[in-house]
Formats: sequence, structure tokens, C-alpha cells
Amino acid sequence: MRVMDITRVCVVGGGTMGNGIAHVFALKGFETTLVEAKKELADKALATIAGNLDRQAAKGVIAATDKDAALARLKTALSPAQAKGFHLAVEAVSENLELKKRIFRDLDEAAAPGAILATNTSSLPVTELASVVKDPSRVIGMHFMNPVPVMKLVEIIRGLQTSDETHAAIHALTLKLGKTPALAKDFPGFISNRVLMPMINEAITCLHEGVSSREDIDTIMKLGMAHPMGPLQLADYIGLDVCLAIMGVLHEGFGDSKYRPSPLLKQMVQAGRLGVKSGAGFYDYPKK
Ligand SMILES: NC(=O)c1ccc[n+]([C@@H]2O[C@H](COP(=O)([O-])OP(=O)(O)OC[C@H]3O[C@@H](n4cnc5c(N)ncnc54)[C@H](O)[C@@H]3O)[C@@H](O)[C@H]2O)c1
Repeated sequence: MRVMDITRVCVVGGGTMGNGIAHVFALKGFETTLVEAKKELADKALATIAGNLDRQAAKGVIAATDKDAALARLKTALSPAQAKGFHLAVEAVSENLELKKRIFRDLDEAAAPGAILATNTSSLPVTELASVVKDPSRVIGMHFMNPVPVMKLVEIIRGLQTSDETHAAIHALTLKLGKTPALAKDFPGFISNRVLMPMINEAITCLHEGVSSREDIDTIMKLGMAHPMGPLQLADYIGLDVCLAIMGVLHEGFGDSKYRPSPLLKQMVQAGRLGVKSGAGFYDYPKK
């Protein structure tokens, strides 16, 4: 599939990432079908997209007519089969290998001939996902960042069998979406999480060892390294359960003790202090 042949896109999963990905494709002129597990979830994702398009229009980032045009290009479905004939799929369901493999098999059946199947996984092996479809050369990672309509990066991950043609199409497509592609091979954590998560884990170890306070650790990294957010605050936003899961992938994938998850990180997750989403992590987030 060449980039100019891609006009119909199927996004699977309408959660945090999926609704942002569908938003961006619809806004950039692609006929987009968002697949969710249940009708209520599909409706909720559509409402979120409409609200976010409104916010962009109010800020002058897009014209009011762009919003209507984007919504007119957006449909929902309850299975890949209902979206049949798409040229590109971007899978953004929950981070679970077995679930993703099932979705990939369904996408393989429903896609147009030659379609590209992409995954937004943060940490699972693209090569293993590719192994369940007929032609693994057409599978690739498209790792968008949260919030998708705002963040410029798409980390592109080539699986072991991803073809040059597939990579070239996804590179060009990323530029068409107004984003910047950066390439990584299919090694645990790719680049983004392999570099970010050990830094967060080390900040948690420093807190655990009493080297510094949470505020000072975050201030040092914010003001000293020009990071927009300190690592402990960032971990709260990402979700401490997600951080722990990714450290687990790095630890297991490389078998290297330098990726050992901090015992404090494990304890925070055991205590249900998952960060912003649970109301408390390294900081408190009282419900408004
Ligand atoms: N949240 C982030 O910051 C972030 C950033 C980059 C990548 N990712 C990756 O993106 C993916 C999705 O993460 P998220 O944060 O959006 O999760 P989420 O929990 O917000 O959304 C997942 C969605 O998948 C849907 N889903 C589950 N089973 C389905 C099925 N069979 N068919 C259709 N939809 C189904 C769920 O209903 C849910 O709405 C994961 O692989 C994650 O690792 C997340």
C-alpha cells in the first residue's frame, strides 16, 4: 500500500489514545471508522472527539467548518468486520498481548487487500503481533503520544519483517498528519519508554532512599534539565501501574538488573496509589 492509496482508516479502541488518533485522521481528511467494544463506549469516544474539536475551534487552532467536516468523516462500528475495506488500521486497545493478537486476526480478515496494520502499543513486541497475520511485512508500530491532537511525535517501530514499502508509507502518512516521525527497531520499550521509564524509576529510587524530597527531585529535573514536568509528577500522569508494567517489560526483555522496578513503585501500585487516575500517587489529586 502506498501513502496516496490510503484514504480509509480503521482505529480500534476509543479510549485515551484511540479517540485522539481517530480525531487526527478525521481532521486530516481520512474516512475514519472508530471501533469500540460497546455502543456506549463508541458514543462516549465520539462525544470526547466532538468536545476536543470544539476546544480546538475555540482556540483558533482549526476553523469551525473543519470540526463539522471531521465529524462528517467519522463513523463508529462494533467490530473490524463492520469497518470492512479499510486501507490502514491503527489498533489502540488496552495493553494486552492476547487481546491485541485477536484484534489483529480480525483486522487481517476485514482489511482491503494490501492494507497496512499498525499498532499503537507502548511496549509489546510488534514482531509478535505481526506473526498472527497473513503478511507480517505490512505490520508496523505507530506509537502516538498523549494527547494525540497536540503531541507532534509518532515513534515508528519496524518489526523484524516490516517491509521498506510499509515503512515508507507510514513515514509519509505521519508527515501528512502534521506529525514528526522518528524510527526505532522493535526492541523492548523502543526508544521512548526505554529511555523515559528508567529515568522515572531512578527518581522513585532516589525518593525511596531518602536522597531528596519529591518536590526537590521534580524541581531539579524541571529547572535543571528543562523538563516541562518532574519525573514523579510525570509518573503520576502516566499512571504508576503503566510505569510498573513497562519496567517489567524492560526487565524481562533484556534480563538486565538495571531495569529492576523500584520496590517503592511496586508498593505504590499495591496500595492502589496509581497517580492522577486514582486521585493519589506521589502527589494528591483531590476530585474537583
Ligand atoms: N495512555 C497513554 O499515554 C499511551 C501513550 C501511548 C501509547 N499507549 C498505548 O495505547 C493503547 C491504548 O491505551 P489507552 O491509554 O488509550 O487505553 P484505554 O484503556 O484508555 O483505552 C483502551 C480502549 O480499548 C477498548 N477496547 C478493549 N477491547 C476492545 C475490543 N475488543 N474492541 C474494541 N475496543 C476495545 C476499551 O473499551 C477502551 O476504550 C495501549 O496499547 C497503550 O499501551 C498509551
